[in-house]
Amino acid sequence: MYNIATLNKISPVGLAHLSDAYAVIDDTAAANGILVRSQDMHEMEFGKDLLTIARAGAGVNNIPLDKCADQGIVVFNTPGANANAVKELVLAALLLSARNIPAALSWAATLTTDVSKAVEKGKKQFAGTEIKGKTLGVYGLGAIGVMVANSAADLGMKVVGYDPFFSTKSAHALCSCVDVVDDPAEMLPKCDYVTIHVPASPATNGMFNADVFSQMKDGAVLLNFSRDKLINEADMLAALEGGKLKEYLTDFGTDGLVGKEGVVLLPHLGASTAEAEDNCATIAVTEIMDYIENGNITNS
Ligand code: MLT
Repeated sequence: MYNIATLNKISPVGLAHLSDAYAVIDDTAAANGILVRSQDMHEMEFGKDLLTIARAGAGVNNIPLDKCADQGIVVFNTPGANANAVKELVLAALLLSARNIPAALSWAATLTTDVSKAVEKGKKQFAGTEIKGKTLGVYGLGAIGVMVANSAADLGMKVVGYDPFFSTKSAHALCSCVDVVDDPAEMLPKCDYVTIHVPASPATNGMFNADVFSQMKDGAVLLNFSRDKLINEADMLAALEGGKLKEYLTDFGTDGLVGKEGVVLLPHLGASTAEAEDNCATIAVTEIMDYIENGNITNS
């Protein structure tokens, strides 16, 4: 019998794929495998029988990869399994921003009497723009970035893509409807919206800094549904204050962003759909079983 510990709520649909050879336990110290979502594991002591950790999601920044490598613990993730969920939220955020919905909702919550008069005022105050014909820069052309790029193009946006890690050639093969550039300096000055889709790692920490903001079009909107660490927060707030950025929409709140004008915060909802949670958990469970039983390391 193998012991699988779960951290965070792992979808029961995924857990149901565990065969009779597995018991689901709470005690990580006694685990042969751990299934985790977003809980930070950097301070955790691993038990001597731990063979593998599977992240039911794409990002592995909550897992101490060096420590796992030292201790021979194999780490899996499920890139792509929740990409559609994240893509849909990014598109929703784009549309919310273009139509001033966050501000209009806050306004609606303050209404008391004389609503029809207020509505006439609100209609002018929150008039928006269409995204059709606007330029979207997709910074990072992995599973999520490519889906966002293709869908935004379907909605009539002009889409420019850049990836700091893929060559232009392979990014083009992934995403033929998009104009892919080799240098972000070719993309950033054109974009009304920029959406970030690169993983968090030491190489990408603070990647969106004053230099990058200075290359962006005045009044651009930045969407970050990847990780907070990608942004140099002080530089981003300065860009908002100076009008370089019109709005910052993010799934990753920090204390420094609370109450700041132009910041729209969501509570890490990108992959929080029933479908994505089921997909990620199912793939993570399959990866763990295939490794424990067959020694296969197949990151789906
Ligand atoms: C991811 O990295 O794929 C997401 O953060 C998953 C999640 O929300 O658990």
